[in-house]
Amino acid sequence: MSISDFKLRINEIAREVNKYLENVETVRVISHYDTDGICAASIICKMLLRKNKKFHISLIKQLEKEKIAELEKETYSFFIFTDLGAGQIENLINLSKSSKILILDHHQLKDSINNENIIHINPHLFNIDGSEISGAGVSYLFTKEIDEKNSDLVHLAIIGAIGDRQEKDGKFFGINEMLLSEAVNSNIMEVKKGLRIFGRVSRPIHIVLQYSTDPFIPGVSGNESGAVRFLSDIGIKIKDESGRWRRMCDLSEEEERKLVTAVIMRRLDTSEKPEDVLGNVYTIKGASDILSDAHEFSSLLNACGRMNSASIGVMLCIGSNGNLIENVREIMQQYKIKILNALNWVLENLNNKERIITTDKCFYIIGKGDIDDNIIGTVCSIILESGTITTKRIIVGFANRENKVKVSIRSKDEYVNIGKICGQIAKKLNFEGGGHKHAGGARINLNSEKEFINEFEKYLNEDLQK
Ligand code: C5P
Ligand code: ZN
Repeated sequence: MSISDFKLRINEIAREVNKYLENVETVRVISHYDTDGICAASIICKMLLRKNKKFHISLIKQLEKEKIAELEKETYSFFIFTDLGAGQIENLINLSKSSKILILDHHQLKDSINNENIIHINPHLFNIDGSEISGAGVSYLFTKEIDEKNSDLVHLAIIGAIGDRQEKDGKFFGINEMLLSEAVNSNIMEVKKGLRIFGRVSRPIHIVLQYSTDPFIPGVSGNESGAVRFLSDIGIKIKDESGRWRRMCDLSEEEERKLVTAVIMRRLDTSEKPEDVLGNVYTIKGASDILSDAHEFSSLLNACGRMNSASIGVMLCIGSNGNLIENVREIMQQYKIKILNALNWVLENLNNKERIITTDKCFYIIGKGDIDDNIIGTVCSIILESGTITTKRIIVGFANRENKVKVSIRSKDEYVNIGKICGQIAKKLNFEGGGHKHAGGARINLNSEKEFINEFEKYLNEDLQK
């Protein structure tokens, strides 16, 4: 099975759905509340708007059994699930008795169920890995088959993929790479090589360099005055004529080249590959301010989702910006404060063996009520990627969520499939869990963190022996 089989199947399904939609008044859209989910939902909503269809959308943390039970009480005849659903098909059977269901997902499947009311588009069904296309990418491919004019939404597929961290060494591969070429060829996006660094449009250069931990710049990362001196040594002004801080996007090409060379020189003494500092910079043409840089757009949507403002994210994606940018800046600010507080909590508790546990391969954070469940995944990602708090390659975070505990796992270990292990433990201990190779999660009972850790360690060691 190949990408062309996958596309062929999407085309067949789109034709079927197009016919079905003629008799549907309001479509119920359920999506994940992260960047990818917001982009996926936005693509579907824009397609429905263009078809003059009404929709009712919810962006949720997880498609839990309780959530599905609530949906069963609704009277919609057509449900579209984006960026979620693949792991919950057996729980959707009841809903499918009264409604048609379309799942546009890229997560690993738990069970494959043949049910004519559940239509499922998923790369895994075609032996394509879910890390080479996002939920937004799947939604985009489908939406483009519904109507070619939706091909102007391709940038959202890329932003979704960035949100799900699908770039490897600063580049996309597989279907994402094809989608990116499509975006460039149709003049929607521009790609150039640049310093692989976050905040090109939103932050002053010296701050961007100071906060850069990946790539790590000796004497500059984590050191504001070091960053200022570094820039002054290579002759890059940090303020413009009117006294405003200059940003990466304000640098001339020659200045950026100079900066890249200087960063590589600084890193020559480190053990890492010096060229690791280069990555793709994606500009969305015609968009302004932070919405013009795909990486910044992605992190802004992530902040909206985590700060209970996912609907603002959808509005940004479908282009009804109005005065939303100022709102979004405030959301980003609050979000950063929340993350910093959580990272500080981890640092303060490093010696507290009841709350921070390290094993051979993993770093476990038992956050309980001290870390917000909305940000535990991001905290794990930051700890994994910065390498400053621990050098372990698998980070597992726990945080209380209502009367359960949310588990988030992020991994850089090539030999371990986190999603698979989560699924297996979930089955054994009878809770919900799953995910991808490098990111997974679960929902377990209150105070059962240690039981999960024991099981996880067991599966980890078994997995490694294969
Ligand atoms: O919530 P978080 O971002 O940490 O989840 C990481 C991944 O784990 C999600 O993309 C999802 O696929 C999976 N997950 C799951 N079941 C859960 C929680 C997370 O399958 N209960
Ligand atoms: Zn996703």
